[in-house]
Amino acid sequence: MAAERPAAAPLYRIGRPAREPRLPVRLVILGATGSIGTQAVDLAVRHPDRLQVVGVSAASRVEELAALVRRLEAAGAARAPAAALVDPSAARAAARDPLLGRRLLPPGPAGLDELAALDGADCVVNGLVGAAGLAPTLAAAAAGRRIALANKESLVVGGDLVRAAVARGGAEVVPVDSEHSALAQCLSGRAAEELERLVLTCSGGPFRTWTAAAMAAARKDEVLSHPTWNMGAKITVDSATLMNKGLEVIEAHVLFGTAYRDIEVVVHPGSIVHSLAVFRDGAVVAQLGAPDMRVPLLYALAGERHWPLATERLDLARLGELRFEAPDPERFPCLALARRAGEAGGRAPIVLNAANEAAVAALLDDRLGYADIAAVIAATLDELPGGPVADLAEALETDAAARRVAQRLIEARARR
Ligand SMILES: NC(=O)c1ccc[n+]([C@@H]2O[C@H](COP(=O)([O-])OP(=O)(O)OC[C@H]3O[C@@H](n4cnc5c(N)ncnc54)[C@H](OP(=O)(O)O)[C@@H]3O)[C@@H](O)[C@H]2O)c1
Repeated sequence: MAAERPAAAPLYRIGRPAREPRLPVRLVILGATGSIGTQAVDLAVRHPDRLQVVGVSAASRVEELAALVRRLEAAGAARAPAAALVDPSAARAAARDPLLGRRLLPPGPAGLDELAALDGADCVVNGLVGAAGLAPTLAAAAAGRRIALANKESLVVGGDLVRAAVARGGAEVVPVDSEHSALAQCLSGRAAEELERLVLTCSGGPFRTWTAAAMAAARKDEVLSHPTWNMGAKITVDSATLMNKGLEVIEAHVLFGTAYRDIEVVVHPGSIVHSLAVFRDGAVVAQLGAPDMRVPLLYALAGERHWPLATERLDLARLGELRFEAPDPERFPCLALARRAGEAGGRAPIVLNAANEAAVAALLDDRLGYADIAAVIAATLDELPGGPVADLAEALETDAAARRVAQRLIEARARR
C-alpha cells in the first residue's frame, strides 16, 4: 500500500481516566433541530439535574427551535438559552420570537462560532451536518470546551486543524458516532501501544443484499429507508452508498491515530456490535447495545461515564446470533474512494467530502441518481490536484473548488 499514511498522534487521548464532570454540565447544542440535536435535547429533558442547555442553533427552522427551547424550559433543563439561526431571514423571524429573541446571536457563521465558544459552557454538542461543522468545532476547541462530536465531517475535512486547535485550546474531543464511541469505550483504561487494529462495524445500509442492477435503478425513497437507524437525510444517503463508513474510517484514523491499513470494516446487519478493538495479543474487545444514538451521546455528555438511561436492553438469547460479512467493494465503490482519499491526506479528503455533499444534495433534490454519486466523487477527485493544506482558509477554498467541479459534473449528467 504505497500511499499509506503512518499512524498519527491521536486526537482522542486513549486510556485517559474518565472524571465525573462538575454538575450540571452546561451544554451548547449546535444543530439542535436535527436528529442528533433533538436527541441531545431529549437527554437534557430527562436529566435536568445533570444537563443544562445554555445555547442552541439551527440553520433555518425557527418554529422547531422555539418549540425545543419551550420544552427544555418546561423541564427545567434551560433558562433563556442563547440562540443562533444561520439563515439571515430565519434570524429576523427569530428576533420576533418571544423565546429565541431574548438572547439571539448574529446570523451566519459568525453567530455559530460565537455560540460554539459561548462563555460559561462546558460542553459543545456538534450535531451540524457537513463541512459547515468544521469552523464551529475549531471555535469550540480554541475556547477549550469538551466537544461531543457527531459532525464527522469536521475531522474528514480538517483533522490536522482540529488536532492543532484542541492542543492549543486545551480542549477535548469525545466521539458521538456510535462506532467511535464504541471504540473509545473498548480502549478505556488501555494504552495506545496495546492496540493492534480497529474494526468498524457497518449495517450495510438498505442495499446490502441488492444486485448492482437493482441498485442502479434505486429510487430516492429506497435510498432513504435505512434498516436499523433513524437519522438525518444526508447521513442516511451516506449509509446507502457506504460513504458514511468511508468517512468513519478517516474519522477513526484522526481520532485514534491508527494507520489506515489497521482499520477494517465489517458488515454487521443487526447494528448490535458497534465496533471492536483488537489488541496485540489477539484479544478482541467489542461494545454492544441496541441501536440508539442517545447511548453514545449521553456517554460523551457525561464526560465518558455511564449515566442512567431508560433504553432497550439487549436480550442476547432472543437475538440468537450475530452476523458478519465482508463489504462488497464492487457494489459500494465509495468505501474505497474514501479510504484512498484518507491515505492521500491533505486536499483529497476535503475534495471527497465536498463532492459527496454536492452529490447527496443533488440526489435529495432529484437531480442525480444513486448510481451516479460515486462516479461524481471519483471524477472530482481525478480533476483536482492533491497536496497539503496549510490552514482553514485553504481548506475552505479547496472545499469550494471541489463543489464547483462536482456541480458541473452533476449538471452534465442531468443533461444526458
Ligand atoms: N443522526 C444520527 O443518528 C447520526 C449518527 C451518527 C453521526 N451523525 C452525524 O451527526 C451530524 C448531524 O447529523 P444529523 O443526522 O443529526 O443531521 P440533521 O438531522 O440533518 O440535522 C442537522 C442540523 O444542522 C443544522 N444545519 C444544517 N445545515 C447547516 C449549516 N450549513 N449550517 C449550520 N447549521 C446547519 C440543521 O438545522 P435546520 O433544522 O434548521 O435545517 C439541523 O439542526 C452529521 O455529521 C452526521 O454524520 C448522525
